[in-house]
Amino acid sequence: MWGGRFAEGPSAVMREINASIPFDKRLWQQDIAGSKAHVAMLAAQGIVSAEDARTIDAGLDAVAADYARDGVPENLALEDIHMVTENALAEKIGAVAGRLHTARSRNDQVATDFKLWVRDAIDEVDAGLAALQKALLDRAHDHADSVMPGFTHLQSAQPVTLGHHLMAYYEMIARDRGRFADARARLNWCPLGAAALAGTGFPIDREATAQALGFDEPTRNSLDSVSDRDFALEYLTAATQCALHLSRLAEEFVIWASQPFGFVALSDQWSTGSSIMPQKRNPDAAELVRGHAGRIAGCMTSLMMTMKGLPLAYSKDMQDDKPPVFEAHDLIGLAIAAMTGMVESASFRTDRMRALAESGFATATDLADWLVREAGLPFREAHHVTGRVVALAEQEGVTLDRLTLDQLKSVDTRIDERVFEVLSVDASVASRMSFGGTAPERVRAAIAEARKNQEPH
Ligand code: ARG
Repeated sequence: MWGGRFAEGPSAVMREINASIPFDKRLWQQDIAGSKAHVAMLAAQGIVSAEDARTIDAGLDAVAADYARDGVPENLALEDIHMVTENALAEKIGAVAGRLHTARSRNDQVATDFKLWVRDAIDEVDAGLAALQKALLDRAHDHADSVMPGFTHLQSAQPVTLGHHLMAYYEMIARDRGRFADARARLNWCPLGAAALAGTGFPIDREATAQALGFDEPTRNSLDSVSDRDFALEYLTAATQCALHLSRLAEEFVIWASQPFGFVALSDQWSTGSSIMPQKRNPDAAELVRGHAGRIAGCMTSLMMTMKGLPLAYSKDMQDDKPPVFEAHDLIGLAIAAMTGMVESASFRTDRMRALAESGFATATDLADWLVREAGLPFREAHHVTGRVVALAEQEGVTLDRLTLDQLKSVDTRIDERVFEVLSVDASVASRMSFGGTAPERVRAAIAEARKNQEPH
């Protein structure tokens, strides 16, 4: 395609290092769509004849049909999806194929294709995250009243409900979807028509191609248009943040599925056995979601390092933008789907959660709060008195609500029998009625509110 000024062909290694077709063939649908929009505009502007445009358009459809049936041929000598497709078009319609590349460069072509691809990727991820949110909402609704220990430092802290805990992840995913939506809005400017870097002397209509491809408007600066990869980076940073959230939920499933915790039994579909230890049910999917987060962050770092310090406009380094985005997209898609399956099918052991919530002195804060509210103690003093009550319960080997009133009074005479109203884990969670708190009534209201907002972006 560019051999005019060359006497010799490239070396085999040059050919190999230069070729992006092994990976950028994933852009074929976007490449065809971009070319169809481009040639329609060229015809409308009188830059190519209507007849040539019709021939090219039909030829592109025929190439697309071949690709859909047989896949994209990986011809390294043709470098990339743009030239492989142009070559396939020429094989179908002859020399008129050469008119397609008028007023266009691979630089604006690849930027356009890749933006279209990332836009679809964002929509796919968003649909996956909406399904995950739905699973979280459904399970949270089942468990709005199920008491479990809430942790800080992985030490029993205060009782919460499992519904509340799952809704925490719902919120994280909501922000992740917001980040993807922001990235999509900033991405949706069309670079086609920037040509190599400087624009073109042909009387093109950039509004028309932008509109045909579903962009909001054409990009404003031709140099920026062919140099911008922040749309891909924004996708990767959003994917990384999302993967970090998924990895935390995955880690909780790993912990909860362990024998000492026993909070959850993963379904057969989401567990694996051991080839030597017959008793095993391993949470491999959760561990891989945790692991994938690291690889996705690696993809983000990879593209950041590629882009760092590149002068304007296009440099071939930028061809390396696609593998990390494709890889991250595949990984995040799997991670979201696996997490959704695990959430939907997990059996939560609420009896076990309750037992651990009761055994960890998790209502100690409720006792301290009671001393402030009902006995008028300053919080610091209430904290100290409660600490002594906990030490006594530990010494007696009982939970706080199993201490007798006499025992409680032996620590502080200002304690009376009304204290038993706050010492149970159910009383504790029911009392957390502050906005965003764990009271079952609050959790149910949060779920109802979330269900109202569950429309895709
Ligand atoms: N395969 C190239 C890429 O993905 C297309 C752009 C090539 N442009 C160029 N001037 N060599 O970046």
